[in-house]
Amino acid sequence: MRKKVTKAIFPVAGLGTRFLPATKSVPKEIMTLVDRPLIQYAIDEARAAGIKEFIFVTSRGKGALEDYFDHAPTLEAELRKKGKDDLLEILKDTNMDSGAIAYIRQHKAMGLGHAVWCARRLMGNEPFAVILPDDVIAAEKPCLQQMVEAYEETGGNVVAAMEVPPEKTSSYGILDVKEDMGSMVSVKGMVEKPAKGTEPSNLAVIGRYILTQHVMNNLNKMKVGAGGEIQLTDAIAQEIENERPVYGFRFRGQRFDCGSKAGFLQATVSFALARPDLRDEFAAFLTSVTAEQKAAQ
Ligand code: G1P
Repeated sequence: MRKKVTKAIFPVAGLGTRFLPATKSVPKEIMTLVDRPLIQYAIDEARAAGIKEFIFVTSRGKGALEDYFDHAPTLEAELRKKGKDDLLEILKDTNMDSGAIAYIRQHKAMGLGHAVWCARRLMGNEPFAVILPDDVIAAEKPCLQQMVEAYEETGGNVVAAMEVPPEKTSSYGILDVKEDMGSMVSVKGMVEKPAKGTEPSNLAVIGRYILTQHVMNNLNKMKVGAGGEIQLTDAIAQEIENERPVYGFRFRGQRFDCGSKAGFLQATVSFALARPDLRDEFAAFLTSVTAEQKAAQ
């Protein structure tokens, strides 16, 4: 029997400079798609996949994240007094069981690999998930759940993967494919943000990982890699050298890059159109805006 994946790391220490000035005082993970912060989507996905322990790697200025997952006694009392049970119900999603959530600070921005390594003492000798909340994935079956199921079949390390246009490969970790089995590929190498023209494929790593404890051990001795940072990609690639398996998993779903403005806007539109309470009014608005734009051209 494989050990169950019950712990997930959420690296949320980034400064979010692409969203300044908003992120001057609001952590980017609190920015909302319709009415739910990015981090809520990540947590819901983790819960659906059976995750029981949530480890946030934070940094200075991320206090709003801790408050978000705490009770809000004044607000809750007020809502109760007014009989707003529907709103109290909505707030329930933001509550965590006592002790289910932990916050670790990354004191210096030294890369994704370093952020994950900061959580090492909480992980123990078991596989763990990593979720990057910037990558929002709309899917019938949540992406991490698909991956846990795949992991239960194969073991090893499983990273979410998706084909990206060739001109975008230098923004991602890229897989060197050994064998393509359709939804799964076995991997013989991984490169973080390859220079244009050197990419081994256009199959990119997306921000969902199921990793063995060996990857955490590798991070103990990782040197700086691409961009002068300690890279999670390099610690996973090390496993291939250690002759332990790494798989790419082509998930079923639509991924939005909410670390970029265009991606964030696309996600907002798509999520709004998926909401029964907003769909009709919003679709009508989009149709009229598009028509106006066409007429102006
Ligand atoms: C990180 C990872 C990269 C991965 C990407 C997915 O990069 O380092 O391998 O492809 O997330 O979103 P970042 O976007 O943080 O630069």
